[in-house]
Amino acid sequence: MDGTEDVQDVAAIASREAELVAEIEGAPDLAALEALRVRLLGRSGEVTRRLKALGALPPEKRKEVGAALNALRDTLTDRINARRAALERAALTARLASERIDVSLPPRPAPAGGQESGVIHPISRTIEEIAAIFGAMGFRLAEGPDIETDWYNFGALNIPPHHPARAEHDTFYLPPAPNGETRVLRTHTSPVQIRTLLANPPPVRIIALGRTYRADHDATHSPMFHQCEGLAIDRTLTLGHLKGCLIDFLRAFFDMPNLPVRFRASYFPFTEPSMEVDIGWNRRTGEIGAGGDWLEILGSGMVHPRVLANCGVDPTEWQGFAFGMGIERLTMLKWGINDLRLFFENDVRWLSHYGASPFRPAALQEGL
Ligand code: DAH
Repeated sequence: MDGTEDVQDVAAIASREAELVAEIEGAPDLAALEALRVRLLGRSGEVTRRLKALGALPPEKRKEVGAALNALRDTLTDRINARRAALERAALTARLASERIDVSLPPRPAPAGGQESGVIHPISRTIEEIAAIFGAMGFRLAEGPDIETDWYNFGALNIPPHHPARAEHDTFYLPPAPNGETRVLRTHTSPVQIRTLLANPPPVRIIALGRTYRADHDATHSPMFHQCEGLAIDRTLTLGHLKGCLIDFLRAFFDMPNLPVRFRASYFPFTEPSMEVDIGWNRRTGEIGAGGDWLEILGSGMVHPRVLANCGVDPTEWQGFAFGMGIERLTMLKWGINDLRLFFENDVRWLSHYGASPFRPAALQEGL
């Protein structure tokens, strides 16, 4: 039985099986294996042809040879599948080896007289500085998603439907979630307050740094920008702690021990009382810290009891403060940058001027 003659005999089938298995094991690649499969098990393949020819045999022989041929077909199918899996594994291993990236390679040599190795974007640098300052005061980093539900972004923060504060946020709305909830690109980092309190019982002391979105675009507004949120909840935190914390932060960030800081009564739905924080500057020259004018720099307040209750925190036992600020704005003021769009144009000349060295991480002990 070699595939061309028509011998239907159990012993011949067994010896043919050994030959065919050897051929399968020797198939050099997936294409050769597939060709072999078609030649053996395809519609007019050797085994199929033999099965079709069974009808011509006398009944008692038909049964015996039929069983042997079915067993042959099953064995060949199993062997082909196993060989295919082995060839696929080998192909993947070879590909992984050939596409391997050696991350331990030294960096490319710096061009003569050029930038050494790229720089940290000024926004990233500000984020590092803020984290360093609040980190030294015991604040941990917290995170939340850019795509929020209406409830986290507004409702839980005591901004009910139709509240005028919603209109000020120029919200980007997304198609509703599968469960019907309204989804938005978060308009501020304040929803991280809610996520933090729901996940961790107080006391908590966190900052959240990240992207925020509003449908707004001009020299001082970008549809995507960054904010820093702060939240401190404990049993005895007061407005005094809020003031001390933010004065220390602003003086460290602008590196001015005597920077004038003013707290001005304001309104936010999620704080009571609420305050805007101003720093001293010179309106004419833009110089920070001198000149007798005031510049609003961030929002803050004592967390509203309703916000605490929305997070399952008992407002008769816990209290604390929150604050929020724009990272682009802080960066523009610190470095005298007057157009926010420059941050996102990524002009390499601009970046190499304002970028920070990656080899000098933000650290308080050296001054920022
Ligand atoms: N979420 C406010 C905004 O984007 C900023 C803000 C104000 C955050 C007061 C706070 C806060 O946590 O207490 O305009």
